[in-house]
Amino acid sequence: MTKDAVKSAGRRQSRIPILAVPLLSVALWSGGISPAAQAAEPGKDATTASLPRILVLATGGTIAGQADPRATGAYKSGQITGEQLVQSVPGLDKLAKLNAEQISSIGSQDMNDKVWFGLARRIQDAFDKNEADGVVVTHGTDTLEETAFFLDNVLRGDKPVVVVGSMRPASAASADGPGNLYEAVQVASDPRSRGRGVMAVLNDKIEGARSVTKTNTTSIETFASANGGPVGYVDTAGGIRFMAPAAGLKRTTYQLPAGEQLPRVEIVYSHANMDAVPIEDAISHGAKGIVLAGVGDGNTSKPALDALEAAAKKGIMVVRSTRVRSGFVTRNVEVDDDKNGFVVSEDLNPQKARVLAQLLIASGMTAPAELQRAFTATW
Ligand code: DGL
Repeated sequence: MTKDAVKSAGRRQSRIPILAVPLLSVALWSGGISPAAQAAEPGKDATTASLPRILVLATGGTIAGQADPRATGAYKSGQITGEQLVQSVPGLDKLAKLNAEQISSIGSQDMNDKVWFGLARRIQDAFDKNEADGVVVTHGTDTLEETAFFLDNVLRGDKPVVVVGSMRPASAASADGPGNLYEAVQVASDPRSRGRGVMAVLNDKIEGARSVTKTNTTSIETFASANGGPVGYVDTAGGIRFMAPAAGLKRTTYQLPAGEQLPRVEIVYSHANMDAVPIEDAISHGAKGIVLAGVGDGNTSKPALDALEAAAKKGIMVVRSTRVRSGFVTRNVEVDDDKNGFVVSEDLNPQKARVLAQLLIASGMTAPAELQRAFTATW
């Protein structure tokens, strides 16, 4: 939705005085609840009451960021609440009945197991109690792909969950957050989104949780799926276009471990002249799993490989992934995975291979063949 469209939408719908908030580039509704929420009360506008119920869970990030007007481009993440974000995008309440809750207010570089567990439990509870028809999670973009993948592996059911962020803060002249949030609610509200697992929506694209990754440090055109492309496109004029029907979820769902913590799994980044030190450090710090961000098809130097073999012999899960942006890591090409009891990550990048390794270790799964099957996409 263009900025002008957002403003005109605000004017068109505004039946109550709009409170202008200097740091937001779009007008906020005053009075605490949007017209749709008021209308949804019994005896009010029936069409609004029939709108899908979308739960918005806010975690922070740039989408909730605010800049100091004196600063040159610097800003602080997680300054605006989810409720303010929802109220700051006119027209949202024509798409859905929205309820916003604040899970955290952090930059996603600080994303952690406590927030992940809180998100997963709140979403599952909302679905199990039929409180929501879909969920939108507002999130920083730095680790958005990991959160989307984590949720995709622990949530049960087929209702839509959409993770959304932005590359520019809410106070930027051309903030991308309002449009991204509008599109995220469009996708979460659409019945065709069911059965597609967790999705990420930014910049008119709908990406699947398994494949989406951040590819540019600053551009709004940053999220992409290295293997296979987006699952669909969304824009405020044309609505939603999925590239294929929902495959129906054959995914395995892993239980959240009892404590508030996932097992320690380290990522070791391979490079020229690689030695065994990073792997030995990971073992000495109690890693239960090691993911190799290998060169090429998940390769590394002989000293490093010897150290990984020793780790596997100690019962540490070893997953060969790759620093290469696309393609699949293949078993037993230059490394004898069968002999070493290694797993390959297939198309999962190191940061997602780490999340799945944590869940598998927490589940107690140890058989190499079972572990390898868990890494293989079930589409
Ligand atoms: N602080 C980073 C984060 O929250 C900024 C990136 C963003 O949200 O776009 O992920």
